[in-house]
Amino acid sequence: SSVTEEYRPNYHFTPESGWMNDPNGLVYLDDEYHLFYQFYPDSTVWGPMHWGHAVSRDLVNWESLPTALYPDSLGYIFSGSAVFDAENSSGLGTKENPPLVAIFTHHNAEEAETSSDTFQNQSIAFSLDKGRTWEKYSQNPVLKNPGIRDFRDPKVSQITNPDGSKSWIMTLAVLDHINFYSSPDLKNWSLLSEFGKTIGAHGGVWECPDLLPFKTPAGEQKWVLLVSINPGGPQNGSATQYFIGDFKNGEFTPDDTMIRWIDYGPDNYAGVTWSNLPTEQNRTLFIGWMSNWLYANVVPTKAWRSAMTVPRALSLFDVDGTLLLKSAPAIELEKLRSEEFEINQTEAGLPSEAVELTAEVKSDSFSMTLSNELGESVIISKENGLVSIDRRNAGKSDFQRDFAAMHSAPMSWEAKEIRIFLDASSIELFINDGELVMTSILFPTSPWKNVAVSESLNSLKIYNLKK
Ligand code: FRU
Repeated sequence: SSVTEEYRPNYHFTPESGWMNDPNGLVYLDDEYHLFYQFYPDSTVWGPMHWGHAVSRDLVNWESLPTALYPDSLGYIFSGSAVFDAENSSGLGTKENPPLVAIFTHHNAEEAETSSDTFQNQSIAFSLDKGRTWEKYSQNPVLKNPGIRDFRDPKVSQITNPDGSKSWIMTLAVLDHINFYSSPDLKNWSLLSEFGKTIGAHGGVWECPDLLPFKTPAGEQKWVLLVSINPGGPQNGSATQYFIGDFKNGEFTPDDTMIRWIDYGPDNYAGVTWSNLPTEQNRTLFIGWMSNWLYANVVPTKAWRSAMTVPRALSLFDVDGTLLLKSAPAIELEKLRSEEFEINQTEAGLPSEAVELTAEVKSDSFSMTLSNELGESVIISKENGLVSIDRRNAGKSDFQRDFAAMHSAPMSWEAKEIRIFLDASSIELFINDGELVMTSILFPTSPWKNVAVSESLNSLKIYNLKK
């Protein structure tokens, strides 16, 4: 519609109405990127979870589709993943028409109110029409709870064994650790190993894991394990940590005990990656929920709550012998650049609320202030090895006492260039193509109109973004 809704993003995914949290079931099939998500259509606060559904051909234009999975007698539909079962190993489709299979947690909310500990179980559903309609498997659940209250968020991927055969691997969050399971058919699962009880950040419950193969810059094979944690992030509240190591004989072994975060801002949670991407894309594609459990239920949007981050391509890079994960904006986002402004001063007006800013950094430090006519501002900077986004005076914040804060992250290596994506209620900062990332949501009373930068930022460019 032509009516602009306050805080509705222009190019980030949001549900038309209702509540959204985690991305779920990210799978690519026949030129479509599927995005399912934790969804409560009847309210703008968290409630009985469904899987909402959208598809895109370019990761920028999303078409909303009917709700894919509804709560049933086994419970709400919590987070999970989806795979293309190309060889019909599950028998849920045919060789000619293999199924998409969704693997998710059934959360029995009534049972959760009792003294029972077994109310979260893993179930599956399948689609034979490119994700348009789904049928739940008649013998759910496929993986029963062994007596642990937090037992959820299955992420399934397929691995090739040393002998050339293939196995499905389920990575599951279990309270304070990860369980790995394997299956030949997505229906029968056996426990392989456990990881993480005594390593990593443990300030909260472990959720939404993902296990990913990568090549290092030196060409070595490594595995990265993403684990979201709530609370206990590097800022207040929820965030996503990751481990780098090996996955061999069904076991994950970390290289070291270092704690690493995929994004140092407050607002990137429960992110996971797409399965079944065409091999020629040669990338690992990630999207996160752009909020934080600290205040997700009370942010000042009206018809809907929460957006996803921009899609990001993950890869490993090396800083002085330490491997880290970088998150670069997906290449498709460049399609949004409609007008380009080269700025030769230290101040400029912004053409709209949806812009991308790029600049080169001299001398490893910079600051950039976005402001509006009401005197509200957000300050992005690197000084003395610390990258910050300061949203203390960035508009509405009275909905939650911790929201108005300055968030900082150490960056011991040099910042050479920055890319910033602004939308109606967010900022995403990518330094050196995503070697350090901070994502922050913002609710300015009036859109950002002006940008002012330090002398240390060269070749400032502003792109007006349009779909
Ligand atoms: C993470 C999470 C998951 C759970 C889902 C429920 O944000 O708590 O662990 O499956 O949200 O909506």
